[in-house]
Amino acid sequence: MMKQALLRVAIAVTFFTAPCAIAQHVMHNGQPAADEKTQPWQNKSLSPDQRADLVLKEMTLDEKIALLHGNSMPGWPGPKSPIAYMGNGGAGFVVGVPRLGIPIIQMSDAAYGVRSSGENGRYSTALPSNLASAASWDPQAACDYGALIGRELRNQGYNMTLGGGVNVTRDPRNGRTFEYMGEDPILAGTLVGNRIKCEQAEHVIGDIKHYAVNDQESGRNEVDSIISKRAMRESDLLAFEIGIQVGDPAAVMCSYNAVNGDFACENKYLLTDVLRKAWDFKGFVLSDWGGTHSTVKASEAGLDNEEPLAEFFGEPLKQAVEAGKVSQADLDLHVHRMLRSEFAAGIVDFPARRSVPDIEGGWATSRHIAESSTVLLKNKDSILPIDASKVHSIAIIGKNADMGMISGGGSAQVDPPGRMPPHWQEHVWFPTSPLKAISAKNPAIKTSFASGDDVAAAAALAKQSDVAIVFAYQWTSEGMDLPTLTLEDNQDKLIAAVAAANPKTIVVLETGTAATMPWVDSVSGILEAWYAGSKGADAIANILFGDVNPSAKLPMTFPASERDLPHPDFVVPPPGAQGREAVMRSGTAKPTFAVHYDEGLKVGYKWYDAEKKPVLFPFGFGLSYTTYSYSDLKVSEGSSPTVTFSVKNTGSRDGVEIAQVYASLPDGAGEPPKRLVGWSRVPLKAGESGTATVTIDPKYLSVYDDASNSWKLLPGSYTIRVGGSSAALDLTKKLSLK
Ligand code: BGC
Repeated sequence: MMKQALLRVAIAVTFFTAPCAIAQHVMHNGQPAADEKTQPWQNKSLSPDQRADLVLKEMTLDEKIALLHGNSMPGWPGPKSPIAYMGNGGAGFVVGVPRLGIPIIQMSDAAYGVRSSGENGRYSTALPSNLASAASWDPQAACDYGALIGRELRNQGYNMTLGGGVNVTRDPRNGRTFEYMGEDPILAGTLVGNRIKCEQAEHVIGDIKHYAVNDQESGRNEVDSIISKRAMRESDLLAFEIGIQVGDPAAVMCSYNAVNGDFACENKYLLTDVLRKAWDFKGFVLSDWGGTHSTVKASEAGLDNEEPLAEFFGEPLKQAVEAGKVSQADLDLHVHRMLRSEFAAGIVDFPARRSVPDIEGGWATSRHIAESSTVLLKNKDSILPIDASKVHSIAIIGKNADMGMISGGGSAQVDPPGRMPPHWQEHVWFPTSPLKAISAKNPAIKTSFASGDDVAAAAALAKQSDVAIVFAYQWTSEGMDLPTLTLEDNQDKLIAAVAAANPKTIVVLETGTAATMPWVDSVSGILEAWYAGSKGADAIANILFGDVNPSAKLPMTFPASERDLPHPDFVVPPPGAQGREAVMRSGTAKPTFAVHYDEGLKVGYKWYDAEKKPVLFPFGFGLSYTTYSYSDLKVSEGSSPTVTFSVKNTGSRDGVEIAQVYASLPDGAGEPPKRLVGWSRVPLKAGESGTATVTIDPKYLSVYDDASNSWKLLPGSYTIRVGGSSAALDLTKKLSLK
């Protein structure tokens, strides 16, 4: 014990003195001197793997162990790290090896912007939620999203993000749905991959999470997700597979829950058989916070780094190595993965330095992404865009609609500027005021505000106004699920009353996931704005008045009712379950309950299609202020067919159409009726026609065969379907594969 304490102090002292040592080596451009004679791994022409091996040879056992665990985070319950705090205020840090020029890994949560910067007095931009950005179906927007976060992380002195959530939406009540990219693995994987690619290009370690099947928050530390391999590989894991292929993240975060009996962070199937062997992932795996449960088992399964503490991968790992329970080779493999990832992401060659963020640039990006993420769900009699020459008064109704817009909670939370950092589970309204944005847009229009607390007063105001706009919200957060998709706070009643008073009612939804809408037939317009970020109100005003023509489409189904979900009754921990604290970090804990994902492949629209359940709004749906027609579908032969078709803008406004391509697999494949296999964003001027070309990846037509553990492209007759949403696929062509 004593020896350990002394050693820790020694390490701490090394680190505290390190800045001077590093300072002496700093060259121009803030890069450390590449003293290649004494530090041959500083040679940038070597591969990350070669550089890692050269460093590894110089390292002591203690230095190696120190790379494989965290050292606590501010406010984290449980034992404190014996290492002096060297963090940057973020969720965790891993000490470096200063004598060898290996920096500290400074991690921050950064789902829709850099988290908790308020506590450090730092600024970060809130982007629209991840789910919102998925509604743009735009890889370029995903790239801009990642690049912005990458830059702002570095502005704050971080060199690793804990973003990149891509759990597919199996149940829309999952409280973290807003942190993910919707229900389709190909859409979600492609977008998260593009985000990560551009994030890492800013020289931060990118991360993809929560691997895997962490599809609900209730009992997340003790739930066992029971699911077939085929269902996993074709849905939940496919999103990760594509994300990793496209984005090449340096890190994967394994999740809290168990999958088929083993906790994800000690699950050999997930961490070795699939991640390493099938996907050839070269980076490192870190545990979700407190999600490590063992030393030897986790190491053997493929966990490389325990966060945020050192309970299993600190001293116990050292002892296991000394006792031969974890081999030297395995230890070195974990260390190699850490080091090669640091070189690959560029954090060694391009050290993060605190600097002033480009706030206005960030706002422009955030607003632009919000504009391309807002989905027009209903537009009766073309109530939108609002015609400022005819509308003289607008009632703005809704809680805080004079002040701001709601954001998503938990570790994703970005702090709003100008106020105290919020508590973990507090509704946070970003200071982006719909009332102000709408008033500023057209000062000649009279705008009035009612919070809606008094339903009768709000209805009276609506009655006196030409148009009423209700800003309705749904707050969701990590650590909880929604008991229901009904809007909280009796907002359905408010909306119904306002619509009864004035049928020219438009509802703007600020939601983290789907919501039910009992008033859908009585309002004229519905805009789904999600959690819209720092500039949400400006983006909405631009859409309301037609400066921007909406183009976004739903990345998830909006069901008609919870009764239509695969698990109408949400599965929660049974009475007497151990509870989060008892399970977290515990070496003896076992899952206390299971969710059986018997719906298997039928995730999202695949479920409603197969079960023939009508929905409120289908996957891929979204209106525009113009209209489009589709024609001339051609499908080339072969297993990687090229699909071409024409899209015409048949209206009078320029727009962007998200044209979708689905495939129905041969009868007997045992697949849901159809799956998305590609899409194209087609920008078209009013009246213009264009040709879209989508080449289908053969894997997207394949099925996963459990027996042979491989993907199979089945022979038979496929149907390729093209159109503007999963429920409007008028063009079809057969494709026959031998
Ligand atoms: C969350 C992770 C997050 C981590 C660090 C965990 O509770 O599940 O997504 O990155 O905390 O804050």
